[in-house]
Amino acid sequence: MNAAPFRPEELAARFQREYGAAPDGIWQAPGRVNLIGEHTDYNEGFVLPFAIDRTARVAVRVRGDLQVRLLSTYGDQGPASANLNQLEPESAKGWTKYPLGVLWALREAGITVPGIDLLLDSDVPPGAGLSSSHAIECAVISALNDLTSAGLTAQDMVLATQRAENGFVGAPTGIMDQSASLRGAEGHAVFLDCRDQNATLVPFETGPAGLVLLVIDTKVSHSHADGGYASRRASCQLGAEVLGVGALRDVQVGDLPEASGLLDETTFRRVRHVVTENDRVLQTVERLEAEGPSAIGLLLDASHASMRDDFEISCPELDLAVETARAHGAIGARMTGGGFGGAAIALTPVEAEPEVRSAVVRAFARAGYREPGIFTVSPAPGARRIA
Ligand code: GLA
Repeated sequence: MNAAPFRPEELAARFQREYGAAPDGIWQAPGRVNLIGEHTDYNEGFVLPFAIDRTARVAVRVRGDLQVRLLSTYGDQGPASANLNQLEPESAKGWTKYPLGVLWALREAGITVPGIDLLLDSDVPPGAGLSSSHAIECAVISALNDLTSAGLTAQDMVLATQRAENGFVGAPTGIMDQSASLRGAEGHAVFLDCRDQNATLVPFETGPAGLVLLVIDTKVSHSHADGGYASRRASCQLGAEVLGVGALRDVQVGDLPEASGLLDETTFRRVRHVVTENDRVLQTVERLEAEGPSAIGLLLDASHASMRDDFEISCPELDLAVETARAHGAIGARMTGGGFGGAAIALTPVEAEPEVRSAVVRAFARAGYREPGIFTVSPAPGARRIA
């Protein structure tokens, strides 16, 4: 990751220096923050993420053979290379698994893709729960879609990048992150029904409400290819099976008392998180539409408590970030993303921002944790060609 992104002309000049020819174009795709709706996507439920103003950018040139060369602006030694006929799932290293995963998934879907030279630049912090990996994948698939005239719809691209994550990277993730990156729009969150991929843009502008949305990156890094994410997914699957539904989306809050008698204690709490979280997403959408962002704070708090106590995917650093932000003026806060590390968000009145920032930094220092990264985000446009 680079703190400050290269301008398109700088990236093109760097590409020319590295590969001896100009790129065919430059494509950009954002990371995302999930406002609410965690671990609901693979339960065919609801999510409300938005694309953020931090992006991955790829300069790409089509080659005449099946070679792929990959380079980033941050510190690699020479391009990594691969042959399209020899892409092996779970074999690629570091960030290169994301572009290679997309090429692999497209080929698996029967789409002919060419060899490419690629230069990546990104200012989405990796491991922070802001989906730096999907930002790369969505920039790459947008580039390939344009360069090959494959005519993929947003829905096709969402499923292909999910296939890349599940089948090549080895992370059993859902469809939320790439949906936000591909479908995001300035000033809006993306309300997504993960059963049919129906997406609606919901206005989410903090400025006019006198608020900012702070991201607190705990610097506790996590990977969804580790066991925690998969084990939560397995519990949800078990819960759905025992309750006799196709997916937990079909269980309502009013069904929970009965469900508690049918499930073991841990599975019941996992299920209760998903069921109540779906309900919170629907309430958040209603409140945003009727009253704006000032009305959603308590829903963010309840979401965090549910992830901490029922789904058990928080960690001490995330809990401290959330509690400290709330105690110093935020009107709502929660961890965001898959959990086990990464970032929290805190919806904060503009006038309380300095106090929240310094209180969180002080609390982390007192607890002996790494200094957190704290910055504001706002909803930004989704993936697109920029040069
Ligand atoms: C990760 C996954 C998403 C989603 C979230 C949890 O970000 O990539 O598909 O499951 O975790 O809400």
